[in-house]
Amino acid sequence: MIIDQHTALYGVVGYPVGHSLSPVMHNTVFSASGLNAVYLAFETKDIGGCLEGMKALGIRGMSVTIPHKSAVIPLLDDVDDLAKKIGAVNTIVNDDNGLVGYNTDAFGALRALEDKIEISGITCLIIGAGGAARAIGFIMKERGVHLCIANRSDHKGEALARSLKCPFVPLKDMGEIHAELIIQTTPVGMYPRDGHCIVPKEVLKKEMVVMDIVYNPIETKLLTLARTQGCLTIDGLQMFIHQGAEQFRLWTGLEAPVTTMTKAVEKVLKKSA
Ligand code: ATR
Repeated sequence: MIIDQHTALYGVVGYPVGHSLSPVMHNTVFSASGLNAVYLAFETKDIGGCLEGMKALGIRGMSVTIPHKSAVIPLLDDVDDLAKKIGAVNTIVNDDNGLVGYNTDAFGALRALEDKIEISGITCLIIGAGGAARAIGFIMKERGVHLCIANRSDHKGEALARSLKCPFVPLKDMGEIHAELIIQTTPVGMYPRDGHCIVPKEVLKKEMVVMDIVYNPIETKLLTLARTQGCLTIDGLQMFIHQGAEQFRLWTGLEAPVTTMTKAVEKVLKKSA
């Protein structure tokens, strides 16, 4: 691809962004789709300045990551209803409507799950009560899933459970919940502390589906344990790829080549392992 006067610019804004896999994923997609576009990483604490820059320079779209996902909301021209409910934006589209915010994390988790199972009416234990748990919780609730939150700190777990109108249990009591699906949303098990697992082995039953949103490593300790117990497992890479595919669709109106994206990100993860 030749970068020229027509090249469209996209990026990710966050602090830090040094380990982000979004540039590899999106540049692969732009190139595979024959688009004259590039995607860069912008490491800044100045989210207001970033938005002014987007408008002034005509940057077409931005992924938003830690610590800006909530702080960006009041600065945008408009915010999608689901992102408003979740209280976090991870995608900005810059077009004739100004800067509009969306949350594709929720969509990514949903697609990763629905690729493998029918979720309506099932009982799901979400472990963790941070931004990712919130995004997943709201979209699952909309799909008729019976939720329960387990979290290390009671106050944060209870607050999310109240918002979702569902029960809360402390981590030590997670085994008492007869969940058909467990979704692990904390950083436990993430590289370099990848020997850790937040779910005791005896909680994992063979009829369960277990999803981990950690994607480095792709197979976390939790997923290895779940697999050996006979559970169906869903790795975090699926959610990451599908949230990226939805960003691409919002920016370009095109369907993303999901298999190509997955291969590109897997290659980088395997190289760094
Ligand atoms: P994100 O927005 O990416 O979901 P976050 O808002 O920092 O991340 O939330 C992280 C979640 O993981 C929280 O629920 C946190 O539990 P606390 O509410 O007790 O802080 C949980 N978490 C982080 N590290 C953990 C650990 N070592 N053990 C158990 N839970 C942990």
